[in-house]
Amino acid sequence: ADLAREKMNLVLIGMPGCGKSTIARKLAELSGRPLVDIDQRIVERIGIPIRAFFDQEGESAFRQIEAEILAEVTLQSGQIIATGGGIVKDWENVRRLRQSGKVYFLDRSLDQLETDPSRPLSSSREALRQLYDQRIELYRSACDQQIDNNGSIEQTAQECWRRWQ
Ligand code: S3P
Repeated sequence: ADLAREKMNLVLIGMPGCGKSTIARKLAELSGRPLVDIDQRIVERIGIPIRAFFDQEGESAFRQIEAEILAEVTLQSGQIIATGGGIVKDWENVRRLRQSGKVYFLDRSLDQLETDPSRPLSSSREALRQLYDQRIELYRSACDQQIDNNGSIEQTAQECWRRWQ
């Protein structure tokens, strides 16, 4: 059975540097819903920056914690959830997200994505290009809605909100 709309989570997925966290904040303002940023929850749990954790413990240890936190977060309803770009690598994560609400893919073209030297997998343009090629189909098939995210962050937030209502 479908969840009642007010109980559904509104979930944002997409590439690193596509604006997920900022758009989620904006949607939390528009909707008055609580905001959950999975990456932020992970940092609170591990106690060090994600980059340092990747270097010390490796990606698979990170993915394990990411999946644990996602499982906890999706037990709650009525939230705006920003995910890390790699959440779609494990289909069990996608299944939980889809079960708990609606998943919006913020589709921003490769040349418009922000690189960030402090992030382990999106520090350079070349790294982003490789990720993009590996992930684009995953994002497309994981989402309920694909949202054009090539304009301003404000426009994308408004478009998500319009579709939600
Ligand atoms: C990752 C994206 C990051 C963070 C981690 C891994 C990825 O989140 O979860 O560095 O695999 O794409 P952002 O999408 O917020 O950068």
